[in-house]
Amino acid sequence: MNKVSSLKMPASDTPTPLLDVDGVSLEYRTPKRLVRATHRVSFAVHEADRFVLLGASGCGKSTLLKAAAGFIQPVEGEIRLDGQRVARPGPDRIVVFQEFDQLPPWKTVKENVIFPLLASRTLGRREAAERALHYLDKVGLSRFADAYPHTLSGGMKQRVAIARALAMQPRILLMDEPFAALDALTRRKMQEELLALWEEVRFTLLFVTHSIEEALIVGNRIGILSPHPGRVRAEINSHEFSLQSQGGTEFQLATQRIHRLLFDEEYPVSRQAEPARKIA
Ligand SMILES: Nc1ncnc2c1ncn2[C@@H]1O[C@H](COP(=O)(O)OP(=O)(O)O)[C@@H](O)[C@H]1O
Ligand SMILES: [Mg+2]
Repeated sequence: MNKVSSLKMPASDTPTPLLDVDGVSLEYRTPKRLVRATHRVSFAVHEADRFVLLGASGCGKSTLLKAAAGFIQPVEGEIRLDGQRVARPGPDRIVVFQEFDQLPPWKTVKENVIFPLLASRTLGRREAAERALHYLDKVGLSRFADAYPHTLSGGMKQRVAIARALAMQPRILLMDEPFAALDALTRRKMQEELLALWEEVRFTLLFVTHSIEEALIVGNRIGILSPHPGRVRAEINSHEFSLQSQGGTEFQLATQRIHRLLFDEEYPVSRQAEPARKIA
């Protein structure tokens, strides 16, 4: 950029977000009724963000993630990736789900990671195998490359799902409560590993959870959603929290404040539309 055009840029100009969720309402039409899952939700995810959507069960988190993945279309508003409207699923957005059965059981761990690379014609067989092993190594599963999913623990299956997703080198990784079905200790370990992986690879993450603690640990920013239908109540910075800060005074205070934002019935409806309230 030359000097003249840079001078023309207004001071408030921020770079175009990687993922721009802009006034998005999502609905399900059932034979009997229309269910509004989210109402005019807006947030922006920037390159290398770990953006967490936090909200109670049923507030539309999974629906938002499915819309970002391109599986469903908004009835109002728009979702853009790199400025382009998201109209369909694509290899630039990969989802990791909560369920342990997201890996076809008849394929080995390595074949599970290779398959999407071949199916999307991202790589040829040899390069795909190399890349699969590279990412299996990153999640500590090199030794299990030839094992079948049923021989793995829940945590290991989630590691395979994460390796498979990262191997696609998506523009954004979408994770829907990926650790919610794990026991507490494994869950903690997986959060730690995910953060270590992020330090190394610096992928962009949109992560959904109903756990305040998990949101504070995993996220650098948190979008707090109201109960059904989901609206953005507040957006907070949480980059100063990590697994180490859990249990500390600041962490507990932030947890309490978020809890109030999530569940306080007295929270005035008119303020729910406020774009961003920095509280942590
Ligand atoms: N396929 C569907 N058909 C009709 N309603 C649905 C469907 N999936 C989800 N819903 C409804 O949409 C709302 C949001 O669901 P969901 O996105 O799964 O919430 P969350 O992931 O936050 O728990 C809920 O009220 C849920 O019952
Ligand atoms: Mg869900």
